[in-house]
Amino acid sequence: MSHSTCRRFDHIVILSGAGLSAESGVATFRDPEGIWQQYDPMDLATPEAFARNPSLVYEFYNARRKQLDDVAPNAAHCALARLCREYQGRVFLVTQNVDDLLEQAGCSEVCHMHGELQVALCTHCGERSIAATAFDGDSQCVHCSEAGGLRPDIVWFGETPYHMAAIERELSTADLFVAIGTSGTVYPAAGFVQEARWCGAHTLEINLESSERADVFDEHRFGPATEQVTQWVEEILAGQ
Ligand code: OAD
Repeated sequence: MSHSTCRRFDHIVILSGAGLSAESGVATFRDPEGIWQQYDPMDLATPEAFARNPSLVYEFYNARRKQLDDVAPNAAHCALARLCREYQGRVFLVTQNVDDLLEQAGCSEVCHMHGELQVALCTHCGERSIAATAFDGDSQCVHCSEAGGLRPDIVWFGETPYHMAAIERELSTADLFVAIGTSGTVYPAAGFVQEARWCGAHTLEINLESSERADVFDEHRFGPATEQVTQWVEEILAGQ
């Protein structure tokens, strides 16, 4: 099987997960210190949990949103921004991450399939707005002025990820699919590698260690994203 840096690709799709932001100080979900080791996602990340105990859910996402003030993009985010700027083919970035570190690094178009921490969604009028650092059940929507309808614009367990039609289109025409820093445990994202492969893409996993889906990838690079992504971007830009 060829190596991803030995040939030129017309269309690269990159799926990122929590491991991309880990070295910026944003906790992952399933590593030993991960968020879902400390909290039960069924108490915080489902529509039922929000209906049952909205204060707890607001508090959890308010704390995560506030943490974004203290973190900065790392070398892997910056390398991906450089790839988007300098690669001659198409690069489509889809992320499961709800932080804005790729945008802060200079990526102009990022597909946030699991939503964004810094966005609030009004369940009364359906409009989205920039979230205040902290908001709760008393906060008013800037569009319809109603209070009580704002929720974090995060795709919770049991909800359908955003932009699926666009993602499917990209996967069907990609000739290289790269997954970075994701455990491959949450679908549909975990199935993207298989879809891309069926459509003929070469597939590369960049992760700290072998993920749940490792056997499906053609090629692997194991190690911290700041090293592995930077190195891969260097090589792929040099080879174009
Ligand atoms: P996980 O926490 O499940 O997986 C993170 C992956 O990153 C693991 O495979 C780690 O080995 C790897 N990793 C950790 N540090 C790394 C580093 N420095 N460099 C490279 N890799 C590293 O996170 P996700 O796969 O993103 O959903 O989780 C998927 C979804 O589950 C999230 O989007 C979230 C969660 O429930 C929502 O919040 C909607």
